[in-house]
Amino acid sequence: MGLRPSTVTGQSPHMVLGLESSCDETAAAIVVRHADGRGEVLSNVVRSQIDEHRAYGGVVPELAARAHVVHMDHIISRALDEAGVSLGDLDGIAATAGPGLIGGVLVGLTIGKALSAATGKPLIAVNHLEGHALTARLTDGVNFPYLMLLVSGGHTQFVLVEGVGRYKKLGGTIDDALGEAFDKVAKMLGLGYPGGPEVERQAMGGDAARFDFPKPLLGEDRLDFSFSGLKTAVRLAAERVAPVSDQDIADVCASFQATVAEIIARRSAQALEVLQANNKALVIAGGVAANKAIGSALREVAQEAGARLVVPPPALCTDNGVMVAWAGLERLALGHVDGLDFTARARWPLDSDDMRVRHG
Ligand code: KG4
Ligand code: ZN
Repeated sequence: MGLRPSTVTGQSPHMVLGLESSCDETAAAIVVRHADGRGEVLSNVVRSQIDEHRAYGGVVPELAARAHVVHMDHIISRALDEAGVSLGDLDGIAATAGPGLIGGVLVGLTIGKALSAATGKPLIAVNHLEGHALTARLTDGVNFPYLMLLVSGGHTQFVLVEGVGRYKKLGGTIDDALGEAFDKVAKMLGLGYPGGPEVERQAMGGDAARFDFPKPLLGEDRLDFSFSGLKTAVRLAAERVAPVSDQDIADVCASFQATVAEIIARRSAQALEVLQANNKALVIAGGVAANKAIGSALREVAQEAGARLVVPPPALCTDNGVMVAWAGLERLALGHVDGLDFTARARWPLDSDDMRVRHG
């Protein structure tokens, strides 16, 4: 992967193994951070558990944790093989320590601790959200400060990224995550899982103007989202026209997608106002970033605000080990490592005091 320099210079290169297991991806990657701050991805192995969870229409935490136990070892071996390195070559082991489904987090973090203890390499306990937040520096060399919009199955939030360890959550969902809303809409219309891509596909043949869905909270002067009322409105609309035809489904999907694209776009325009006029960058992360209607609405917003829009490649927007390794590398470069007593956390807000203490 061709990567541009970030700002920190003057250190020796570091190589880190990153482990991710906080949701339904078992992932490991080897990433190098060169002395000039450039990143280089040596391997990126991801095993999605979608097939295990499909029958349930969502991620089942117990099944996820068990699958991480079964697969993490060989995923790590593959990551090392593909990179052509051994554990002895590493400068650190980074593992997601939260937030996420605690059983899964425990699996990756415990394996990371065991590898750290066995090799003597430092452990870096990574906040999963920090991994998403810093990826754009690896892929696009984005300098601080910038605005991140994280839209995934588990998270929907705006974060002002001021530096490594310096994050301010500007707003977020007060109920469902956006990806979750896509998944629930898909489920109520009898579409497959995960729902986002299905809804997007259906929406292509639909009339976005047919249903006038509410845009909760949009009138309020805050950077928060609420998708649960919208979801209910979609259900009621579908019930009103039942039995639904293929065209009805397409129209509901198109109307829902257009509504959320408008909500995301208007909020993003508002959020970009916190950045200085001559230095605006909007970074998108999370699986929903793959949605083309949302992407094009955000491109318009960025253009109007004179902001740079950064969308990392889809494989690095969704959960992966590269982002964990990279966050570990950024922290290692600043001398931040963690003890083997670090506790896994189901909840771990990016802008908690704890993040500030840990990063100085
Ligand atoms: O980041 P991600 O891969 O996993 C986590 O949530 O951790 O995001 C998955 C979410 C799912 O809810 C999925 O339905 C949604 O992203 N998604 C999409 C699209 N592709 C994936 N939502 C809307 N449009 C898409 N094209
Ligand atoms: Zn994620």
